[in-house]
Amino acid sequence: MTRGQVTRESWAANSVAVGGESGAGLDVLVGRGLFKRYGELVVLDGVDFTVGAGEAVGIVGPNGAGKTTLLSVLAGSVELTSGEVELRGEIVTTLRPDVRCGRGLGRAFQVPRPFGGMTVLENVLVGATAGGHLRGAPAYDRCIDALITCGLDGLSNRRAESLGLLHRKRLELARALATEPAVLLLDEIGGGLTDAEAAELVLTIQQLHAQGVAIVWIEHIVHILVQVVDRLICMDAGRVIADGPPETVLQDAAVVNAYLGRSPA
Ligand SMILES: Nc1ncnc2c1ncn2[C@@H]1O[C@H](COP(=O)(O)OP(=O)(O)O)[C@@H](O)[C@H]1O
Ligand SMILES: [Mg+2]
Repeated sequence: MTRGQVTRESWAANSVAVGGESGAGLDVLVGRGLFKRYGELVVLDGVDFTVGAGEAVGIVGPNGAGKTTLLSVLAGSVELTSGEVELRGEIVTTLRPDVRCGRGLGRAFQVPRPFGGMTVLENVLVGATAGGHLRGAPAYDRCIDALITCGLDGLSNRRAESLGLLHRKRLELARALATEPAVLLLDEIGGGLTDAEAAELVLTIQQLHAQGVAIVWIEHIVHILVQVVDRLICMDAGRVIADGPPETVLQDAAVVNAYLGRSPA
């Protein structure tokens, strides 16, 4: 309990610093007419996308629907063919991923990418310094908060590459968290975990959401996703085919057909 309280307090302070001035109701992240093609292959076909401050949005859809590419164009690691991305009220379409990160956009990758040869703490410090632009004691404080929130405080001095999958996923989350995001992009971080591990991860993400961090979470394990998200988006073939309350989207005929109904009965 003590662990949670310490984290919550520090996060409340950080939430004010990061997202407080944006005010309730303002969209923290907006994509307009997002279009991406690789040669002849259209991967994003005119996606309009909004995330409100502090909102938790889930993204589902079959493999190849364009979900990861959507996160990549929002984060700036993939260049749009056309369209516009707005982060906390400013157009960031041409800005590099690290600049977007410094402005409050955190990302945890589908395949964890810890920096090898570095400890868990050092990995998270990279997030706090390179992404969060913190230095010295505030950087360490931020890292310790992120490690505690993600349940990694006992593993700070372990080599990152020696961690198992659950802990690698937690490290991915802690490193993103240390950048002090106003919005956090998560790509299938529940994949490959046991039910018990996934449940632990859900608790961590629920905690972040409760602290006011907006969350965009791609996840195939829908029953996990719906424990956290306020809204669900379904993509198919580069388009948004449904967007709304999870219970409505999951019953939508187009979603059932595209996502849930493809396997033979
Ligand atoms: N760098 C790339 N070059 C060519 N095609 C790509 C590239 N990245 C993704 N794609 C293609 O874009 C489509 C959408 O991929 P992705 O965004 O990873 O989908 P999802 O995450 O929904 O499974 C797929 O057909 C994939 O093969
Ligand atoms: Mg993907």
